[in-house]
Amino acid sequence: MVKAIRINAVGGPEVMEYVDVEVGDPGPGEVRVRHAAIGLNYIDVYFRTGAYPQPLPAGLGMEGAGTVEAVGEGVTHLKEGDRVAYATRPPGAYAEARVMPAAGLVKLPKSIDFETGAAMMLQGLTVQYLFRRTFPLRGGETILFHAAAGGVGLIACQWARALGVTMIGTVGSDEKAALAKAHGCTHTINYNTENFVERVKEITNGKGVPVVYDSIGKDTFIGSLDCLAPLGMMVSFGSASGPVPPFGLQELASRGSLFITRPTLFSYSAKREDLENMAAELFAMVDTHKIKIDINQRYALKDVAQAHRDLESRKTTGSTILLP
Ligand SMILES: NC(=O)c1ccc[n+]([C@@H]2O[C@H](COP(=O)([O-])OP(=O)(O)OC[C@H]3O[C@@H](n4cnc5c(N)ncnc54)[C@H](OP(=O)(O)O)[C@@H]3O)[C@@H](O)[C@H]2O)c1
Repeated sequence: MVKAIRINAVGGPEVMEYVDVEVGDPGPGEVRVRHAAIGLNYIDVYFRTGAYPQPLPAGLGMEGAGTVEAVGEGVTHLKEGDRVAYATRPPGAYAEARVMPAAGLVKLPKSIDFETGAAMMLQGLTVQYLFRRTFPLRGGETILFHAAAGGVGLIACQWARALGVTMIGTVGSDEKAALAKAHGCTHTINYNTENFVERVKEITNGKGVPVVYDSIGKDTFIGSLDCLAPLGMMVSFGSASGPVPPFGLQELASRGSLFITRPTLFSYSAKREDLENMAAELFAMVDTHKIKIDINQRYALKDVAQAHRDLESRKTTGSTILLP
């Protein structure tokens, strides 16, 4: 038996129950992992509230780091005792140990400790695909990135700096602005007190930006479209403020033949070869100190409800981990 979080209903943070569960042995293609640390991500909130439906009762959490304890039939890339990390489906990382598909796990380099591994995989692989594949940045561009002081945000600030990209980052407070700047964000806009569309126009001399990475959703969507230069790309990759309401395609035409995509990490990392390449690039960025993973909040796994409350009330910055 291990301690784990289970939900029997969707709803507020109180639906997460800290219970004993049977963990069992891995079947074909699976491994059992003992977690040293677990990553907290906004997607966990979407699963908890039912915004992303799943059959109940269910586990939560898509990210962790730890040691392989047992290996199922047919698994060739991992063995007992390997140090591993992952950001993958299905939810269930909020546990001392779990059995899960081996395909989503990568070996964690010796240079990266478990806490960093658990904090960086989901948010770091996301920045990797957003900047290198969804809208590949070559250096020299000016981009708009929302929630620049969050978990994904602080990694994005540093990755943009490493690529020679001028990042305009939105944030919810002056403290968060200072933090984003210290991580390489060139311009910050407090979207609670400033009109971010006007500020982006000002910073770009009226030209607008070639790409917006928007994880806020409902509250920023139309403003983000207004920040784009003709033929620009809207990357809508999250909905922290609520889902984007339905809109007419004319919105894209009238602003200059815009492109739009709604990507998810799991389609970009679905092929094993892609996952390995993405992880190798992320590990190299961390190993060469171009990116430092800021673990600004740590909670005991049993206190996960408080962690969710803090994340949803915009109290956190950088990455957050849960300790089993
Ligand atoms: N599609 C993908 O592949 C993918 C992968 C990873 C993450 N994501 C998305 O990326 C976003 C960031 O994820 P994260 O885990 O790193 O979270 P996070 O950025 O650390 O936390 C969310 C931040 O969003 C901002 N925010 C703005 N309006 C909000 C509202 N109404 N309620 C709550 N927060 C609000 C807050 O920052 P301010 O106070 O500065 O506004 C808050 O700190 C999430 O939307 C997540 O779903 C998408």
